Amino acid sequence: MPTIIDGNALAATIRGEVAEKVADLVATHGITPGLNLLLVGEDPASTVYVRNKGKDCENVGIRSTIVRLPATATEDEVIACVQAWNADDSVHGILVQLPLPKHIDEHRVLRTIDPEKDVDGFHPVNAGKLMIGLDGFIPCTPYGVLEMLTRYNIETSGKHVVVVGRSNIVGKPLAMLLAQKRSPGNATVTICHTGTPDIAEHTRRADIIVSAVGMHGLITADHIRDGAVVIDVGINRITLADGTTKLVGDVDYAAVAPKASAITPVPGGVGPMTRAMLLQNTLTAAIRKARQ
Ligand code: GUN
Repeated sequence: MPTIIDGNALAATIRGEVAEKVADLVATHGITPGLNLLLVGEDPASTVYVRNKGKDCENVGIRSTIVRLPATATEDEVIACVQAWNADDSVHGILVQLPLPKHIDEHRVLRTIDPEKDVDGFHPVNAGKLMIGLDGFIPCTPYGVLEMLTRYNIETSGKHVVVVGRSNIVGKPLAMLLAQKRSPGNATVTICHTGTPDIAEHTRRADIIVSAVGMHGLITADHIRDGAVVIDVGINRITLADGTTKLVGDVDYAAVAPKASAITPVPGGVGPMTRAMLLQNTLTAAIRKARQ
C-alpha cells in the first residue's frame, strides 16, 4: 500500500510552528501579524473560503479583518480598499478573494496590492521573482505541495515530474519551482494541459505526477507507472446517485492508490496545506516588515 500523504496532519504541524513564531514576534517586537481579506459579492464558496481563512488566522494568533463589498462595487472602490490597506502598517498581508465580479479587472486589482503584502503571491512582481529564484511570496498551493514533498522526504532532484495543468495559481508556478536548482527542485519538468493530445503518454513516464486541472477522474490507473508519487490538487464536488454530494480530486483514487508509492487524498491532502501556507506567508510578511 502507498504512503498516504496526510495534509491534515502536516497542516496542523505547520499551524503549530506558525503559532509559535507569531507568539515570538509579539514578544520580541510587539508586532501582531495582520491579514486583511476582501470579499466582493456573495459567492457561497468564496464566502466559506474567506471565513475559514479568518478562523485559521485566529487559531495561530494572526489578526484578521474581513471586509465585504457588494457585487455591485466598482473597480475603483475595490482598488481604493486595497490602497488603504497598502498604506496601513498594521496590515501585513492582503488577500482579495477570487473570482471577482465580471465587471472588475482582476489583474488591475492584483497589480494594486503592495508586492510586500501579496501573501497570495499573485502580483506580477512575485510571479517574476519566483521565475528567477528570488525570495518573494510563493502562491499558497504550490508552496503547500513543496512542503508535502519536503516533509515526506520525497526526492525531486533528478526526477521527472509531470504537472498536469497550467494555471497561473498552481501549474505554472509549481513547474517553475520544481525545475529550479534548489531543494526541493532540480527536477525535469513536463507541463501537460488541454492542448496535450495524449496526457497519459507523458504521465506514464513520470516519477511524480501533480494534477491541478479540476476534472474528476482525469488521472486513472492507466496514467501512472508502478511506484509513482501522485499529488492531487483537484477539488471537485460531484453528485452521487442518491443525490448527496462529495468532494473528489482529479485522480481516480481507488484505482491509482494501489500502484502509487505515495499519494495525497481528497479531501485531506493539498487543500489544508494551501490554508496553512497562507498563514506562513502572512507571518513571513510581518517578519520582513519587522526587519526593515
Ligand atoms: N480563489 C480560489 N483560490 C484562491 C486563492 O488561493 N486565493 C484567492 N485570493 N482567491 C482564490
